[in-house]
Amino acid sequence: MVHADASTFAADVTKAEAYEQVLLQAEGLFYEQRNWVCNLSNTAALLWYAYKSLPAPSNQVNWAGFYTLNPLSLPSRPQLILGPFQGKVACQTIAFGRGVCGVAAKTQKTQLVPDVDAFPGHIACDGASRSEIVVPIVVGDKGVVAIIDVDCAVPDGFDDLDRVWLEKLAELVGKSCDWP
Ligand code: SME
Repeated sequence: MVHADASTFAADVTKAEAYEQVLLQAEGLFYEQRNWVCNLSNTAALLWYAYKSLPAPSNQVNWAGFYTLNPLSLPSRPQLILGPFQGKVACQTIAFGRGVCGVAAKTQKTQLVPDVDAFPGHIACDGASRSEIVVPIVVGDKGVVAIIDVDCAVPDGFDDLDRVWLEKLAELVGKSCDWP
């Protein structure tokens, strides 16, 4: 039975503990549920409330969510399309190779950007974003099916701990959904 309390995080948890709770709750929510919209929506909510429960810089996260591979884009010109998220309205489509999201999708490698102004081609959906982490979700022979994108309103919002846990989350999400 899904309960909103799944997104309640204690005020004094460490970042690793908060991410551990995100993964455990996500795993529970994915039980007998493989719809990608449903699962990415709940995961975005879990991430958002996890960051809000943490001290700075994590509580300065201003966007957390997903872009998925646009099934209508040509294989020769793959494109991401906005998926479930928490935060302000965002760019609807991003070509592979463009911006932080597009580079993560094209290279299939996590992009940890301490200062978005120093990243060539960064797409400023929300001018408040100062740092960003993007983790590709790669599924077997399908390749990149989606990316996790988290923005922070201060520089250096993310470190290697975020990378490690978001990569674990990407693996869990990737194998837990049926992708279009
Ligand atoms: N900044 C991203 C675009 C997506 S928004 O941050 C939600 C990029 O450069 O790809």
